[in-house]
Parts: sequence; C-alpha cells; structure tokens
Amino acid sequence: MEKIAEIKNLNFKYSQQGNWLFHDFNLAINRYEWLAIIGHNGSGKSTLARLLDGLLVPQTGGIWIDQQKMNSGNVWQLRKKIGMVFQNPENQFVGANVADDVAFGLENQAVPYDKMHQRVAAALKRVNMWEYAEQEPANLSGGQKQRVAIAGVIALKPKIVILDEATSMLDPEGRHEVISLIKELKEQEGLTVISITHDIDEASLADRVVVLDDGEILNAAPAAEVFSQGQALIDLGLDIPFSEKVKLALKRQGVLIPQGYYTEQRMVDWICQSISKK
Ligand SMILES: Nc1ncnc2c1ncn2[C@@H]1O[C@H](COP(=O)(O)OP(=O)(O)O)[C@@H](O)[C@H]1O
Ligand SMILES: [Mg+2]
Repeated sequence: MEKIAEIKNLNFKYSQQGNWLFHDFNLAINRYEWLAIIGHNGSGKSTLARLLDGLLVPQTGGIWIDQQKMNSGNVWQLRKKIGMVFQNPENQFVGANVADDVAFGLENQAVPYDKMHQRVAAALKRVNMWEYAEQEPANLSGGQKQRVAIAGVIALKPKIVILDEATSMLDPEGRHEVISLIKELKEQEGLTVISITHDIDEASLADRVVVLDDGEILNAAPAAEVFSQGQALIDLGLDIPFSEKVKLALKRQGVLIPQGYYTEQRMVDWICQSISKK
C-alpha cells in the first residue's frame, strides 16, 4: 500500500536535558487511511501531530510526507499537504465572521481574490455552513465552529487532515456533526485522516487504532481488535466502547460472553437472543 506519511527511527525530546519522549519510533500511515491515535494524557499524541506537521523537529530520524523527506527547505511546502483541527473551537476562530475565518489560510497562501472567494464559498457549502457566511462566531454552536474550522482546512486542499481532540469539547450532537462530516469529506475528497481522540465512537470508525503510551506504540490494529482488549485499555486509563463495558459487567456476573468486539447494535442483538432463549 502506498504510504502518505512515514516516521522512521525518530528520536525526539523537548529539552536537551530531558528524557526521550519518542525513542526509535516508527509509524507508517497509508494513503486514504483513517488512523485513530488513543492514549492517556501526556502520552505524546499532540507532539506526534506537531512532528508530522513540521512544527517540531526531531533530533534524529526522518519524516516522509507524500514520499518526500521533510527538511528545513521543504517544510513549508509539505505542511500545505496537512490540515490541522484542534481541540478548542473558540481558539480556532481567527476571522471576524465565518467567511473571513475560512479565507484566512487562503490569504496566507496568497491565493488571488476571485479564486479565494470561490474556494471559501465551496468549502462552506461542503460543511453546510454557507448560510452562516456573514455571521459572527459568537452566534455559532461549538459543532458549527469546528465545521467552520474544517472548512478552513479543506479550502486549502490538504491530503492529510489531523484532528487533535477536535471533538472533545463538543456536546454529543456537535461531536456527531463533526465526525459524520469528516467521514463524508474523507470519501469525497480522498483524504487521509488522523484522529487523535478520547472518543471511542470516533476511534471505532478508524481503519486502524494506534495505542500510544509514553511515546511508545503498544498496539496498532483494526479498531475491533484493539477494543476487544477492554481490560488492557482500562488498565492504561483509557475509555472503552459502551458495548465492551456491558460485556465486562456481564462477565463479572458470571455470564458467558462472546469473544471479540461487538458494536452496540450487535451487543443488543446478542442480549436479546440470550434472553429469548431462556
Ligand atoms: N512545549 C513543551 N515543552 C516541554 N514539554 C512538553 C511540551 N509539550 C508537551 N510536553 C510534554 O511532552 C509529553 C507529551 O505531551 P503531549 O504530546 O501534549 O501529550 P498528549 O497530547 O498525548 O496529551 C508530556 O509529558 C508533556 O508534558
Ligand atoms: Mg494532546
């Protein structure tokens, strides 16, 4: 499979005296993949995002973006291939209104006015926020603000979108809005998505889940496989899907539970079947 990003033998620490946060770290991300990264606070998830975006420079080792090795000469060019959406919808807003906000990144890239206007409109339509173009951020919900942030990112036509806990400050509805939008954009725009998340529903959409613990990859596998190891994730201080919580609770009651990861619906079906057999 073609790799869109690759980290090879990377060593990184924040300060000269400090300990290595990443030691001989390797990770390859396939083009069009949806990769979720989970891990407790301080495990290095945001640092990894900043390394990929060239905002931090590793002491040794290399990062390849779209087949090119990142260096000080091409970092600005490579960064254009990556769009980042951060946690706090308030801090993301830089424009006086929605359209200005989306235009900001395009202005920075000196896109001509006509073209800019077109791309702003197209991006806002894509995220279903066009009718809000003239509105001020104060009137928007958290989910709407994140959708505007996503419009700002896709207006720049990136190949990779990194969501760094982009849904964590949203209510369930806002979270759902943003996740389903990303899913749709990923298909339509041919994006590679890296979602750093505490939200299990978001992580379970991924093709592959990486479990990060103090800069080390403990597991990198399909979501179903990672979440079937419920107890190990709990031991790491991570949340697990609701269906897995139900399974653990039933197991404690001595109920013989199915092996492997069940989605909520599959778990409901299984429980219904078990009850009707009695
Ligand atoms: N700018 C910084 N300077 C020094 N240490 C930092 C900096 N940012 C993060 N760290 C440290 O690096 C580790 C990983 O942090 P981070 O990548 O933010 O983790 P996560 O996003 O998984 O919560 C933590 O121990 C954190 O304290
Ligand atoms: Mg973080």
